[in-house]
Amino acid sequence: MESMLTKLAPAATRLGVRRMSSLGPEVDVLLKDKAYVNGAWIGAASGKTFQVTNPMNSQVITSVPDMNAADVSLAVDAANDAFQTWRGTTAKYRSDLLRKWFNLCVANHEGLAKLLTAEQGKPLAESRGELVYGSSYIEWFSEECRRIYGEVAQSPVASKEMMFIRQPIGVVGMITPWNFPNAMITRKVAAALAAGCTCVVKPAEDTPLSALALGVLAEEAGIPAGVVNVITSSRQHTAEVGKVLCESPKVAGISFTGSTKVGKILYRQSANTIKRLGLELGGNAAFIVFDSANLDLAVQGCMASKFRNAGQTCVSTNRVLVQESVVEEFIGKLKAAMDNLVLGDGMKDGVSQGPIINKSQFDKICEMVQEARGQGAEIVVGGEPHKSAGELFYKPTILTNVTESMSLYREEIFGPVVSIKTFKTEEEALALANDSRVGLASYFYSENISQCFRVAKKLETGMVGINEGAISAAEAAFGGIKESGLGREGSSHGLDEYTNIKYMCFGNL
Ligand code: SIN
Repeated sequence: MESMLTKLAPAATRLGVRRMSSLGPEVDVLLKDKAYVNGAWIGAASGKTFQVTNPMNSQVITSVPDMNAADVSLAVDAANDAFQTWRGTTAKYRSDLLRKWFNLCVANHEGLAKLLTAEQGKPLAESRGELVYGSSYIEWFSEECRRIYGEVAQSPVASKEMMFIRQPIGVVGMITPWNFPNAMITRKVAAALAAGCTCVVKPAEDTPLSALALGVLAEEAGIPAGVVNVITSSRQHTAEVGKVLCESPKVAGISFTGSTKVGKILYRQSANTIKRLGLELGGNAAFIVFDSANLDLAVQGCMASKFRNAGQTCVSTNRVLVQESVVEEFIGKLKAAMDNLVLGDGMKDGVSQGPIINKSQFDKICEMVQEARGQGAEIVVGGEPHKSAGELFYKPTILTNVTESMSLYREEIFGPVVSIKTFKTEEEALALANDSRVGLASYFYSENISQCFRVAKKLETGMVGINEGAISAAEAAFGGIKESGLGREGSSHGLDEYTNIKYMCFGNL
């Protein structure tokens, strides 16, 4: 009998190396140049492909199918067929398969992390962190799966019994971003599968390889054909693919992580078929430092929430609001901490900040900082590209004298730029923080317990970090309010998006 150790050995040792890349054998077995539909690895019907490049050096890693609307319809059909069987499986069966998938992700941790750094650019230590985080969603939902309970209500009439059961909604279209190429997929797919749904995943065009690698391991775990489908499309076809997923009557729900702008388009496109929507959209997180704060902890939290993934995170601190009396001290400590950041190739030891994902994101950061400077913002440190590290590197930056009219104050910077504005009173800080149409995350630092409760309740965001800059976990209910989205991912609530409540009334008893 195959030993447990053999079962869990990295795919590289079990399957042998299929193709050689410069990334190493543990990556080669996960590296795919085909999409995964109905349990088969296929190209686009047109035969077209697009290149996936490493943002560190623009080198081509591989090419993947450039799928269009017709290809996606086939994937939706496959997911719909698979749903007819998958919906009837037991929770125990689905839980066991999810656990196998999780074990394979753990066994292939290093290969997945290296592949992620190669296509996304984040430092290997962060990719490893994302892998632990991403895999934890599969583990979590393998456990939650068996706790999808119904209810029996107290009937007002003796001759009736009223029951509610939770059933899977059906096929889910998932559109995922490039900033967390693994975790944003696992927290959707694992929840959907646990609930009994099937899915069609469309990863971001910048980072499709981590998604395909998850497909490799899902197949190896024995998840039946058609239950997980991963399709790849270039920027040119992304909009039409999204439209098919939103408009198809065979797709019951859409789960999207990305910008508010695209979220609104998907929301509109889904109206005709009244889809279930899970939208995790942009944020504009305020990070408030009160004069009662422990400033060392506040700096630590700011570093964690601002410089994770070079600031390319929806929950990244975007506006740092500091009480006037402590601003000089806070900036001094923050600058000292930022001096320790090392920019470079994420594959190298000691690197703590990689490149920005692509030219258009990079240009956006440059333009926002330029605009802020033009309007009177002052640069304490950074404020320009870091060309010696590579074409897409931006220096860790602190800007002061930031005002509400600047676009980097009103919109997500998605880069390593700390913009600082001062305030005088708690009321003023709250008014500034809440003056935004989005409400994903916010953070504040205070050693005053009354202030902690007061401010936490008044902040208009779906998530609040109180003396904490790292809030994400599979156990946590992740999601926003206002234009930051709909629904929650992770926690037991992460299953809500994928289940319908059916009310059954038994009469004449
Ligand atoms: C995101 O940036 O969209 C997700 C970040 C997280 O899960 O912590």
